[in-house]
Amino acid sequence: MGLFTNLQLKWFPQPLAKLGSFRGQKVLVVGGTTGLGLASAVHFVDLGASEVIITTRSTSRGEAAKTKLESIARGKEECPCIHVMELDMDRFESVVAFVEQLKRQYSDDGGLDYIILSAGIHNASFGLSPEGW
Ligand SMILES: NC(=O)c1ccc[n+]([C@@H]2O[C@H](COP(=O)([O-])OP(=O)(O)OC[C@H]3O[C@@H](n4cnc5c(N)ncnc54)[C@H](OP(=O)(O)O)[C@@H]3O)[C@@H](O)[C@H]2O)c1
Repeated sequence: MGLFTNLQLKWFPQPLAKLGSFRGQKVLVVGGTTGLGLASAVHFVDLGASEVIITTRSTSRGEAAKTKLESIARGKEECPCIHVMELDMDRFESVVAFVEQLKRQYSDDGGLDYIILSAGIHNASFGLSPEGW
């Protein structure tokens, strides 16, 4: 993004997406239990997505985020489906199982419309996962 565009956006920010602008859309938020991912998932529920899928390594964190999203969704005209899927990107086996499940559940159903990749950590110290990445 150039300097001019940066300055323009600073003084004349683009309007937020309109309510209902994601109506009928299926959105996957990888890493949607906390932080930026959960905030995005809340937005997609607010914007009318028909299905919001979040991923987690922990059943309890997944269920807590799902409860929060469902409480926001409850007041909506068209209540979206909230799904939690298991994914640990530190484990190759988990990544493969996740992709296989996605293909099984969504490839015959028009696929996904948007994918937000928000899983990650902010680590000051360098370290490798058990897989070596
Ligand atoms: N927050 C900021 O201001 C900011 C700014 C620039 C960049 N970022 C980057 O954006 C990413 C998200 O930031 P955040 O602040 O939203 O972090 P966060 O609140 O810690 O959320 C991280 C998310 O990633 C998931 N996750 C973590 N490790 C994972 C793994 N090995 N496999 C699968 N999922 C994993 C967590 O899910 P579970 O724990 O439920 O599995 C959680 O939902 C990070 O990479 C961060 O460095 C953040």
